[in-house]
Amino acid sequence: MKKIRLGVNIDHVATVRNARGENYPSPLRAALFAQKNKADSITIHLREDRRHINDLDLKKIKSNLKIPLNLEIAATEEMLKIALKSKPSFICIVPEKRQEITTEGGLNLNYKKDFLKKMISKLKKNNLRVSLFIEPRLIDIKISKYLNADCVEIHTGKFCNLVNHNKMYKKELIKIRNATSLGNKLGLEVHAGHGLTFKSAKILAKVSGIKEFNIGHFLIGESIFTGLGNTIKKFRKIISK
Ligand code: PXP
Repeated sequence: MKKIRLGVNIDHVATVRNARGENYPSPLRAALFAQKNKADSITIHLREDRRHINDLDLKKIKSNLKIPLNLEIAATEEMLKIALKSKPSFICIVPEKRQEITTEGGLNLNYKKDFLKKMISKLKKNNLRVSLFIEPRLIDIKISKYLNADCVEIHTGKFCNLVNHNKMYKKELIKIRNATSLGNKLGLEVHAGHGLTFKSAKILAKVSGIKEFNIGHFLIGESIFTGLGNTIKKFRKIISK
């Protein structure tokens, strides 16, 4: 059985907490619960506007978690400083726009290319694994290699949207397959994330060369009905086939 790692994104536990300005449900508790239920890593996105996870969540989760913490951050000086101070095991650099509901697409790697190169180099010198969140495009895979990233995370949003609405998804799947294959050829570890559900994860688990899935919104939503532990177990079973 091939082993694809499962990263559990707990941002939306914080979204529920923040909706009432209370101190529950606790993202730390969710992270530890996911760890106990065999998540391979925990993903959190510290957004510039702190709309879900905040600096204190990061601190608490980092100091209590035993499995790797994957911190998603925008390419800014502030976030670079936070990453170097908190030293999570993994960093995923993501694009960020204030008004968006969620991370709507992959990074524009030609924008701030010099800063990205400097940022990646600094993070790697501090032994952090660096991933770039990109569209499934061959040119972005090549630029990621040039920038010296360790990994790329392919934005699966468009693909998942088509799958979830029962539309033709083959073209998008081919793009993901080709990007994965080139990434592997160039020595990049390839991950996938955004919008994944049981159905879309099952299809993507068959793409050879994807080593890690990062799943949040659907997983947390599904946990309302079946519990966080059961949902993680179900995803693990799906991606292990
Ligand atoms: N991977 C990355 C890089 C992300 O930014 C996100 C959240 O936008 C996810 C995975 C998880 O996406 P979702 O919450 O839709 O499962």
